[in-house]
Amino acid sequence: MGQDIRGLTVTAASDAAVAAFDHAIEGYLRYRADIPARMAAVFAADPYFAMGHCLKGYFAMLAFKDTALPMAQEALRAAWRFVPGATPREHAHVAALESWANGEPDRAVEVWNQILADHPHDVLAFRLAHFVNFWLGRPEAMLASVLAVEKHWSEAMPGYNAILGCRCFAHEESGYYTEAEHAGREAIRRDPGDLWSAHGVAHVMEMTGRRGEGIAWVDALAPHWEGGNNLQHHLWWHQAMYFVERGDLDRVLTLYDTRFRDLNAPLTQGTPDLYIDVQNAASMLFRLGRHGVDVGDRWVELADKAETRIGDCLSGFTLPHWMMALAATGRAEAGRRMLSAMRDFAQGPGINASLVGDIAVPVSEAVLANGLGDHARAVALMRPVLGEMYQLGGSHAQQDVLEQVFLDSALKAGLEADARLMLERVAGCHPLPPTRRRGYAMAAGLLD
Ligand SMILES: [Fe+2]
Repeated sequence: MGQDIRGLTVTAASDAAVAAFDHAIEGYLRYRADIPARMAAVFAADPYFAMGHCLKGYFAMLAFKDTALPMAQEALRAAWRFVPGATPREHAHVAALESWANGEPDRAVEVWNQILADHPHDVLAFRLAHFVNFWLGRPEAMLASVLAVEKHWSEAMPGYNAILGCRCFAHEESGYYTEAEHAGREAIRRDPGDLWSAHGVAHVMEMTGRRGEGIAWVDALAPHWEGGNNLQHHLWWHQAMYFVERGDLDRVLTLYDTRFRDLNAPLTQGTPDLYIDVQNAASMLFRLGRHGVDVGDRWVELADKAETRIGDCLSGFTLPHWMMALAATGRAEAGRRMLSAMRDFAQGPGINASLVGDIAVPVSEAVLANGLGDHARAVALMRPVLGEMYQLGGSHAQQDVLEQVFLDSALKAGLEADARLMLERVAGCHPLPPTRRRGYAMAAGLLD
């Protein structure tokens, strides 16, 4: 038995094993790219460490990728083997991993919340619950979690920046921009390399239309990102979003090629089809296409990878993005195969399956129809699920591209009432009027 850096009891062979475990969690909280090395140190110190194996399983699940599932399940088996004799909290973590690996992330969140009720300093449970709630489209749960936990923390406790970063993003996604920015800026003052907090503030600037400030925010913090993981790409994507709004589309393409979809960058080569990178790339190419930009052959590598991921439905929000690539390259047959595989997946148990079947299938089918020019069909497919899409997860800034698919289809099909519906919808849930947003301004002018 030992104690982790926040005073929680950990069942491990040595203090060195606990220290290595703390180091691995610190890497997770700070979005470091060297997690494999940190995990190797954990197992070198204690190969029979139940929480070490559980953490390995969590990291495998965080890939949101079918081919990582066997690693998660192997880690789960090892965790169960070594957990007898460990604490109830550690048992609960292994149970949470089991639920997640079985396609029930909502049940995993329930377990993490139970852990936090007794152990509010369990920053691993907190951070995982925040993240999985995000990918279930539950900002209210993210906010409730922060509010329940933060009062038990002090600034001096290691990992406090993770609380601030999550406080920032949970408030931002709930529409409380002032509180969000305050927490995010405080976190950055303490650690300028804090990627999650940098990201939360970037969202505030996106939602409140502070484009120049947002561009400067990313430029000023980027020198601190050495050793960070792919979240860096997403921050550059946010900068590109500001440039879209400014109409500097050449700059967007440059950022695409050099900052968030540089196929030669080591981070990209290490994980060439990571869900967040794919979302960044596809959503930006779709936007550029709407603005008449020739994006060359940039869709092709995404479409090639989409074909290899057909049937992999672990990231529901990524599915329409994969479909954008298939549609943009005219791969209708592959698109239909992908839809068929999604319907097969939806027959399985768990919330992942039902979300894919109920929401990702019609949205992805609409994306395909939009790309193939069948716009009225795209509108008909998407209209019934417009109010449900948030359950696929992703931020307001990311969900926006799906709303643009609907608006684009409605305009091209001449379905004025549907175009108006979308404009009213985005006007109601975004702090900026459609006339101040490039993806909607033209439509707003046409229908005025
Ligand atoms: Fe974001």
